[in-house]
Amino acid sequence: MFKIAVLISGSGSNLQALIDAVNYKKLNCSIECVISDRSGAFGIKRAQENNIKTYVLDKEEYKERLSDEILKIIDGKVDLIVLAGFLSILKGELLKKFKNKIINIHPSLIPSFCGSKMYGIKVHEAALEYGVKISGCTVHFVDEGTDTGPIILQRAVCVYENDTPKSLQERILKEEHRAIVDAVDLISKGLLRIDNRKVWVGESND
Ligand code: GRF
Repeated sequence: MFKIAVLISGSGSNLQALIDAVNYKKLNCSIECVISDRSGAFGIKRAQENNIKTYVLDKEEYKERLSDEILKIIDGKVDLIVLAGFLSILKGELLKKFKNKIINIHPSLIPSFCGSKMYGIKVHEAALEYGVKISGCTVHFVDEGTDTGPIILQRAVCVYENDTPKSLQERILKEEHRAIVDAVDLISKGLLRIDNRKVWVGESND
């Protein structure tokens, strides 16, 4: 069975979407572990309630060693790492060993409103401030940059005149929950073909 690790920093609603999809057999995967870089993350509770192994690697404590510690936990044990609201930047050997095997979800249509310092509600504040009429979410592979890796899929939502950052965030989050499951499904079935930075649905190039 296709094995995944999910990395979180907060509420874990995207993790919950993955857990539900596995439990309802919409995803033929097993969530081997959940790793949080914050001790109080609610997502840890969601994992524990579903008997998923959890690890807390506090980013204040592990600092520069965080990626190496994560690698120690998952090396050889998972096929894919899913960053679901994980706020630390991964680097080093972990990125090399898991090239095209780490995905992230971001709450905007990349390349808009992304990169370092663009996370959480700030993304939606920036989108409303700019006056875009459409926003959305992006699932992409993770490379050395921040939100720069090849795009797997995007989902758009309309922006309304009376939107607040919070209302836009909520509308996009609903799409994220579908998008993250769809992306993991495509990858687990080997249906993605990666051609430089372009990702197409088709046969895998493994
Ligand atoms: C989501 O908007 C995700 O795109 C972003 O952080 C948020 C995490 O939400 N990277 P949750 O923890 O999955 O509820």
